[in-house]
Amino acid sequence: MRAGEREPVITIDGPAGAGKTTAARALAERLGYRLVDTGAMYRALAWSVVQAKDLSAEDTPKLRRHLESVEIEVRDGRVHVNGRDVTEEIRTRAIDRMTSDLTTLEPVRAKITPIQRRLAAAGGVILEGRDTGTVVCPDADVKFYLDADLEERARRRQADFRARGVNVELAVARGEIGARDLQDRTRAIAPLRKAEGAKEIDTTNRTVDDVVDEMVRFIEQRCCTRS
Ligand code: DC
Repeated sequence: MRAGEREPVITIDGPAGAGKTTAARALAERLGYRLVDTGAMYRALAWSVVQAKDLSAEDTPKLRRHLESVEIEVRDGRVHVNGRDVTEEIRTRAIDRMTSDLTTLEPVRAKITPIQRRLAAAGGVILEGRDTGTVVCPDADVKFYLDADLEERARRRQADFRARGVNVELAVARGEIGARDLQDRTRAIAPLRKAEGAKEIDTTNRTVDDVVDEMVRFIEQRCCTRS
């Protein structure tokens, strides 16, 4: 890398259960880059809306006032709402649903997107989410789009919940993931889609190491690993 050049920005988008978070974490470790889980920021916002009790996922003056009063911060891989660490509390099915609904709203995206851009500005960062390569960082140096069969994504979701002590039927996990996919892909603002120039990787039946190896090879081809 030449003096004055910033380190690369890498984006990873794709639907729920595609293996983005796992791959992004492993890739960040290999490259020594920071990881920004953009979904966690939206989840934290959804958590704050649920806590407020008298709010719903509708663009109302009340919601806008709430957005102004909430500070979302990401520090050392942990997400905070007004200084409170909510990293564990945001991984519930109720938060899944509220997040998918809230992320269709313009004021919600207008609040979170600039924070994500600031986190990316210094480079040496991997952003993971739904719109990181299309809207947040359209000028990213390397872009990936991860996907997998719906059945496998549902199984991964089920396993995630089981690890947290929650049992969900496979058919229910499949239904919930399918509903979120549809909403994420068809919303008017920042819908989930493959960014132009993104490298598409199908993670079905593949190990994390195998996927990350392919990502590293692609990054090297694009000549922007540390040197
Ligand atoms: O990746 P995740 O499951 O934590 O994402 C939670 C929700 O937030 C999901 O419905 C998609 C949405 N999301 C988004 O709209 N834009 C992002 N950049 C990241 C997530």
